[in-house]
Amino acid sequence: MLDSLQGKRALVTGGSRGLGRAICRALTEAGARVAFTFSRDEEGAAATVAACAPADAEGHRASVLDAAATALLVRALEARWGGLDILVNNAGISQNLPLALLEEEDFDQVMDVNVKGTFLTSKAVLRGMIKRKGGVILNIGSLAGSRTIEAPVHFCASKAAVEGMTRALAKEVARYGIRVNCLAPGLLEDGLGRNLPDHRLAAYVKHCALGRVGAFDEVARFAVFLVSDQCPYLSGATIGMDGGI
Ligand SMILES: NC(=O)c1ccc[n+]([C@@H]2O[C@H](COP(=O)([O-])OP(=O)(O)OC[C@H]3O[C@@H](n4cnc5c(N)ncnc54)[C@H](OP(=O)(O)O)[C@@H]3O)[C@@H](O)[C@H]2O)c1
Repeated sequence: MLDSLQGKRALVTGGSRGLGRAICRALTEAGARVAFTFSRDEEGAAATVAACAPADAEGHRASVLDAAATALLVRALEARWGGLDILVNNAGISQNLPLALLEEEDFDQVMDVNVKGTFLTSKAVLRGMIKRKGGVILNIGSLAGSRTIEAPVHFCASKAAVEGMTRALAKEVARYGIRVNCLAPGLLEDGLGRNLPDHRLAAYVKHCALGRVGAFDEVARFAVFLVSDQCPYLSGATIGMDGGI
């Protein structure tokens, strides 16, 4: 993968920890210039910048729900870098609650960040990609988007929506030389899965062919391949990476 993204310019949403940080690091290791967003975690953002050193990853506080801030950031990056080649829609949230305990605001919040955030950021970046006739968007989905597993309904609904958006957008923008895919991890070492009850973790490991949860770096390395020119004939796809569930 070394140098497979040399000269590419990437924006990653939700890069202040977890999978987003691993993706930022893997993209920089492959030679890409990387900017990432976050909404609150300043300390985590600084740790991501440090994790990407000696490459110069840059963190920007901009919620994926703030369309104006996102558009401003995208315009500034395009002006400085001459364009963006790669967008990774990674920012995502969840709450581990059964439907009966979910409030309407909980449902809206998860759908907003996971679905509307993907829409708003893609819209901001696509204008330039269409003008330059090329680019790659990688949406981060989840095993929960398509499988019958014990997971919060609003999270499952949001990730199923991301898969649908992936397919429709891939068709819509293929004529401009833009690819759109969705990488759907299973349960990972930390991040959104961090507060899972022990029995849920044990059930996952028991049913997983590889008998363990995934590592952020394992998913991030595959993400690099998916957004690289080494993967030119893949679009509209959702690829599961879950150790065999
Ligand atoms: N961990 C897993 O087991 C797992 C499994 C399948 C799929 N995934 C997917 O992987 C992605 C990353 O999850 P993770 O586990 O790494 O979670 P995480 O550790 O909680 O990280 C989430 C990231 O998103 C950012 N974020 C949250 N709301 C945001 C907003 N409104 N605007 C911009 N950034 C925002 C967070 O930063 P701030 O808090 O600073 O905003 C943080 O950087 C998500 O899409 C998730 O659904 C994770």
